[in-house]
Amino acid sequence: MIQTDLSDVPQRVSTGDLPSLSRVGRLITDAHERYASNDDGIVADYIPALAEADPSWFGISLVGVNGSRHAVGDVDVAFSIQSISKAFMFALMCERYGREELVARIGVNNTGLPFDSVMAVELNDGRPLNPMVNAGAIGTTALVPGENIDERWTIVREGLSAFAGRPLEMSEEVYESETRTNDRNRAIARLVYSYGRMAVDPAEAVEVYTRQCSLMVTADDLAVMGATLADGGVNPITGQRVVSNEASSDTLAVMASCGMYERSGEWLFEIGTPAKSGVSGGIVSIAPGKGATGLFSPRLDFAGNSVRGQHAAAYISCALGFNMFASSPHAREKSSLAH
Ligand code: DON
Repeated sequence: MIQTDLSDVPQRVSTGDLPSLSRVGRLITDAHERYASNDDGIVADYIPALAEADPSWFGISLVGVNGSRHAVGDVDVAFSIQSISKAFMFALMCERYGREELVARIGVNNTGLPFDSVMAVELNDGRPLNPMVNAGAIGTTALVPGENIDERWTIVREGLSAFAGRPLEMSEEVYESETRTNDRNRAIARLVYSYGRMAVDPAEAVEVYTRQCSLMVTADDLAVMGATLADGGVNPITGQRVVSNEASSDTLAVMASCGMYERSGEWLFEIGTPAKSGVSGGIVSIAPGKGATGLFSPRLDFAGNSVRGQHAAAYISCALGFNMFASSPHAREKSSLAH
């Protein structure tokens, strides 16, 4: 458990509305101040380009479904989206093929194992089970239609850009660094393929997936992307419908059960939101019907989740009523309470 001390933060329950604009602004500034000096965790280096991140970076951005925006800290620093792309790719493929197809081909359960686990594939007869880990995400990206890699890549880039509300660009540096070091992902894709569970060349699927992970985003972008899922698939900034209500809620459900890797249960228990993290230090935490927070700070815990991001998300969830499970008794007449 990340053990965030919130004993001095009054819990707000989910009401369907964010608090007033000035209060939201103050609370996310508080969240930033509270955790900016936390130096726990380490910056990822298994993809060499990620090791260049400044560990002191820390940004928080919040976007409401009404288009309201608040930001504090390093919200304009660009970083590679990495695993956070998995959630939005799942939404795009749910939209295209329907939930049954995704459940049948990939699955919607947590493996309880690390994001790059080979054993999880073996244990489940080659079915990835979880679309938020590498096997399931490569399997999801393998579903993108197209005659060749570039056609599929265009669909991925345009789809993820629609969530962000602006054209996202790939970092050549991150892409090349990951391409040089992603033998494990190639092995996982080939293993899934060997079970007859991938319809395209696994090397091509990994190629598109690696480009997808190398798209550059900011904490602001993550907040807009998350707010689009919170808003039933409509981007609250551009007004564009990106995916259906159903694809949004299916994605939020998978994020809730699988988005924080083997810490997903603890996250839901402690923070109570659908969320997704990535190894470059980003987290998107969503309050369905209200909005989303994009958090960014590169120091990670053992599972690959930003440490400051988790603390700040816990604070925001508690103080702004993001926790889906928080409730309090409905106000009743005294007489009805007596019975
Ligand atoms: O495939 C990989 O290993 C990376 N492109 C993404 C992994 C990731 O972000 C997992 N995060 N916690």
